[in-house]
Amino acid sequence: MDFVTPLKIGPVQLQTNLLLAPIAGYCDLAFRLVARSCGGVGMACTDLLSSEGVLRENAHSMNLAQTAEGDSPLCMQLYGSATDRMCEAARWAEDHGADVVDINMGCPVDKVTKKDGGSKLLCDPDKTLGMVERIKASLRRAPLTCKLRLGWDDTCIVAPYLARRLEEAGVSLVTIHGRTTEMRFSGQARLDGIAEVVAAVKGIPVIGNGDVKAPEDALRMLQYTKCAGVMIGRGALSQPWIFRDTWSYLTTGKVPPPPTLEQKVQLIRDHYYGMVKYRSARSAMLEMRKRISWYSRTMHPCSELKDEMRLFETAEQFEAILRRFLEWRASRRPTELRSSAGMAMA
Ligand SMILES: Cc1cc2nc3c(=O)[nH]c(=O)nc-3n(C[C@H](O)[C@H](O)[C@H](O)COP(=O)(O)O)c2cc1C
Repeated sequence: MDFVTPLKIGPVQLQTNLLLAPIAGYCDLAFRLVARSCGGVGMACTDLLSSEGVLRENAHSMNLAQTAEGDSPLCMQLYGSATDRMCEAARWAEDHGADVVDINMGCPVDKVTKKDGGSKLLCDPDKTLGMVERIKASLRRAPLTCKLRLGWDDTCIVAPYLARRLEEAGVSLVTIHGRTTEMRFSGQARLDGIAEVVAAVKGIPVIGNGDVKAPEDALRMLQYTKCAGVMIGRGALSQPWIFRDTWSYLTTGKVPPPPTLEQKVQLIRDHYYGMVKYRSARSAMLEMRKRISWYSRTMHPCSELKDEMRLFETAEQFEAILRRFLEWRASRRPTELRSSAGMAMA
């Protein structure tokens, strides 16, 4: 079995078989560009977009759907349950930069499932297939994909059946997060569940997803389930270079040395200035205050960096915090750093 064939989604050729997951509130344009700049990202996805929101072009949806040069190939993910509106939204996505259109069939959040969207679509496969057929017929160029969970709960594991029917309906790729809706994010993603979906389809690629936090996890998922590629979400928030590492590991058996502290700080800066450019200085400030706890996971010891970053206001303060952090780290002896990193991890 070959684990390193770059994916082809309909006519869209990717460079690798590794995908950046949609993570509502996190996979904004600036972050997608940061992850892409590290290498290894075959395709990135927007966070879930409300079909109504994009059609009304409300400000929040327009922020989420924002794209730019370098942000490709791009998948736009839509949620909703009203077939006509989903068809119109899919065409809207195609006209606004989507190389691939995805339908969210996995979101467990009440706000979405109470309106019959997200993972509620798993509960009535026949109705869902009717909607998918209509969306597929209304797209002119972009291939259609679906992102599923295993089922609503253990009494209703529909993903293998639904994936096969989705393939018959013309869907070009299916991503399967190996949990049920009821599990939310608890427990472990089930590799057996992913393998069942792989076995159920005839020819389309199935992407495995859930709990890949290191290159070895990706190889295990590929080997065990025979999936065609891997989607990574939370693991990328603290290590946007995980795609580079994983692709290197899959193709050469070696993981490159981690980025230096200076390079990691530069990624934080790139994210901040990307937010300033594509949103606003205020959004960038709020985003970095939130994101520093993810970025700092691989930067211990760094408690002052985290504390100061949660309070900064201006770009000058942001720069000064990063400069002070790098100077402080440079002034420490390696033995001091090792012992305080150990304390921070404990
Ligand atoms: C905060 C959060 C937001 C998420 N938002 C989305 C979303 O918008 N669309 C989607 O399909 N999945 C969403 N997911 C699920 C992820 O895409 C992914 O399936 C899940 O986190 C498992 O993969 P991971 O272990 O690599 O993170 C979200 C997950 C989290 C934790």
